[in-house]
Amino acid sequence: MDKIVVTGNGPLQGQIPIAGAKNACLTLMPATLLSDEPLTLTNAPRLSDIRTMSTLLQSLGAEVSSLNEGRVLALSSHGLDNHTADYDIVRKMRASILVLGPMLAREGRAIVSLPGGCAIGARPVDLHLKALEAMGAELELRDGYVHAEARGGLKGAVVEFPIVSVGATENALMAATLAKGTTVLKNPAREPEIVDLARCLQAMGAQIEGAGTDQITVEGVDRLHGATHPVVIDRIELGTYMLAPAIAGGSVELPGGRIDLVGAFVEKLRATGVTVTETPDGLKVARDGDGIRAVDVVTEPFPGFPTDLQAQMMALLCTAGGVSVLEERIFENRFMHAPELIRMGARIDVHGGTATVTGVDRLKGAPVMATDLRASVSLILAGLAAEGDTVVSRVYHLDRGYERVEDKLSAVGAKIERVPDDD
Ligand code: UD1
Repeated sequence: MDKIVVTGNGPLQGQIPIAGAKNACLTLMPATLLSDEPLTLTNAPRLSDIRTMSTLLQSLGAEVSSLNEGRVLALSSHGLDNHTADYDIVRKMRASILVLGPMLAREGRAIVSLPGGCAIGARPVDLHLKALEAMGAELELRDGYVHAEARGGLKGAVVEFPIVSVGATENALMAATLAKGTTVLKNPAREPEIVDLARCLQAMGAQIEGAGTDQITVEGVDRLHGATHPVVIDRIELGTYMLAPAIAGGSVELPGGRIDLVGAFVEKLRATGVTVTETPDGLKVARDGDGIRAVDVVTEPFPGFPTDLQAQMMALLCTAGGVSVLEERIFENRFMHAPELIRMGARIDVHGGTATVTGVDRLKGAPVMATDLRASVSLILAGLAAEGDTVVSRVYHLDRGYERVEDKLSAVGAKIERVPDDD
């Protein structure tokens, strides 16, 4: 497995293009299961999670071709010949559960292994299952698999989510497009990836209103047709690379960046003293020689501050002037980057879901290891301004969600390379 070596070497300058959103693409791909006509996704990111979803869909009998060097995915589910999403694939990626709703809606049955994914808390799937049950699915948990059946098809229902869940909203939304009658999703997730999924489903002929608001109404249709859909840009990749010049200094342009996708994050970034401006084709982030001010951060569902940027924001706050308090409200156990940042000289106290970060002048490079995707990249960001070498191992987490991070960062002047790990 490879390692990434980052050596702090001063301000960054240039452009970092932003890819299509991993989390949008991972829910758009299973939407192919809803139709026997082709679905084409453009602006797809080239990531190992996308390859895992392709393998999963292929195992169900769908055809997936990767065109234009992986930027375009051509999917077709005209002949599904298997209804079981096997543990061997599902355990690699939690988003695999997203095949459940569409497969059940179109085929009337599905067997899906309970998922694995990043080790950030218990992460159950009860809300996904309750929503599908409300639509008339009969579910049974056996041997680590969800066995789902909807003889005669799913039926429209009112589903009220007790807490906001992105994945459960996506599963329910996809399932509802082919259910008989009207489905009302109350307290759904409002993330941009939900809006993107709704747009794609609408292009396939689905009747959906209210995506991006606190209530989504879906009028079921008999069948969906083919469509071509561009994947929305990755707001988490965007926020991550906005933090690079914030941490290392300099000025970086992010073509394709949109402030409406990262509003709460930009507000906090500006509060630290970093300049964020809109340009004709994206965003520009600059930090002059001044120090970073401490800020408090609370993670919340969209439009709040995203949990997926909490680790990266912490990397910035490690060298802020003063004390910052970060409260993680979405996932328990999502501070696994804190002990690693401490190895680099950061002062962080974690108590339950709260991390208190006392800024230090400068971090020092160290060998570090990351146990989830966003934690990995936070260590790389921290390394950009640390003294000496930061060696991040276990980078397979990183490759799940960031396209060649070392190429994008070295293009703006960072000293970063990928080396084979001999351990
Ligand atoms: C998605 C994102 C992930 C992001 C998260 C929150 C994808 C592929 N992943 O994950 O990057 O961090 O949204 O923005 O899009 N919960 C339950 N029962 C359920 C489902 C969720 O209790 O059935 C809880 C979770 O444990 C968590 C909270 O709800 O505490 C939110 O999770 P959810 O929004 O479902 O996250 P994911 O869809 O898994």
